[in-house]
Amino acid sequence: MSRKVTLSVIKADVGGLAGHHIVHPDLLATATRVLAEGRERGVIEDFYVTHVGDDLELIMTHYKGVDNSEVHGLAWEAFVEATKVAKSLGLYGAGQDLLADSFSGNVRGLGPGVAEMEFIERPSEPVVVFMADKTEPGAFNLPFYRIFADPFNTAGLVIDPKLHHGFRFEVMDLYESLVYELNTPEEAYDLLALIGSPYRYTVKRVYRRLDGEIAAVVSSERLSLIAGRYVGKDDPVAIVRAQAGFPALGEILEPFATPHLVAGWMRGSFVGPLMPVSQRDAKTTRFDGPPRIIALGFNIKDGKLVGPSDLFDDPAFDEARRTANIIADYMRRHGPFMPHRLGPEEMEYTTLPEVLKKLSGRARKLEEKKSAPQSKEAHE
Ligand code: 13P
Ligand code: 13P
Ligand code: MG
Ligand code: MG
Repeated sequence: MSRKVTLSVIKADVGGLAGHHIVHPDLLATATRVLAEGRERGVIEDFYVTHVGDDLELIMTHYKGVDNSEVHGLAWEAFVEATKVAKSLGLYGAGQDLLADSFSGNVRGLGPGVAEMEFIERPSEPVVVFMADKTEPGAFNLPFYRIFADPFNTAGLVIDPKLHHGFRFEVMDLYESLVYELNTPEEAYDLLALIGSPYRYTVKRVYRRLDGEIAAVVSSERLSLIAGRYVGKDDPVAIVRAQAGFPALGEILEPFATPHLVAGWMRGSFVGPLMPVSQRDAKTTRFDGPPRIIALGFNIKDGKLVGPSDLFDDPAFDEARRTANIIADYMRRHGPFMPHRLGPEEMEYTTLPEVLKKLSGRARKLEEKKSAPQSKEAHE
């Protein structure tokens, strides 16, 4: 079939049970009902509803392309209906991520996070959907570099002729709303100069250079920047295509065996290890975390979702979880100190301006010791 299929992952936090830690089953049921009706009406082909922590995740397939108003409208309806249920149950932060009162063609900029890609389905089309809570889109910078540019992670870069040409990274500057395109391997150091600052530069898309095929996409809407104030973090999602000219499934999962440090823990203001967990453990408890990520593996066949397989539900990731807990202990001992706590400009909550105001009358000028180098004459 040469028709292009679209995989859309759209997510929002519309309320958590007992704090910011998990989505209530009634919200999952409500979203499932809305999407089932949408599938009935032919808006989408297929869907899977899940959650990571307090984020409600809608995984949908259709033939309408990215940024489609019908598909986005359906997702918006699911979030609005789930918000009503969240309010009726008194859930915490009901409607947290819905920044607009009404839908206007596209959920981008309205609060939900979106990762979408359109492609011609291969005879076998394996995909991985990553979903994370208590972190931000830049959390994918390091693992995506490793998947698509690091031959010590991805053997295929060296031994698979289709991967051997490398990948093109589309990187967003979230402060200036700019997009850069960088080719690896030859521009790897330039790429790292940018994406090593994940609060500002985030990998948005990755393309295979052999033929320009899309390989991966990340949701990169920063809610705090959209709304101009703290409204909840942009807990991110990402899609990666696997096998047959793309990295193998195991190459895609491998970077998550090292729980790297990411921003977004507790009140969106702390740094902690990204812990890969099963769907069963996709709830954030300790210090509202630690930041967690799940990975679901699907095959797309004739526009339908086959699966999923809960990919981190595996003893092979037990050591990563143990390491994450050791790192979490260590980071927590820093309490309110940086670098566990984020810098003032990145914190989503801060009392610093008020504290400075309160103390302003009590501050005195630092006496500057006149220790200017004495002139030669003075010596003589
Ligand atoms: P199979 O030989 O099982 O298809 O595996 C190929 C592969 O690329 C595994 O990483
Ligand atoms: P969420 O962004 O997941 O809602 O978490 C907010 C928070 O403050 C957790 O401590
Ligand atoms: Mg929340
Ligand atoms: Mg969340």
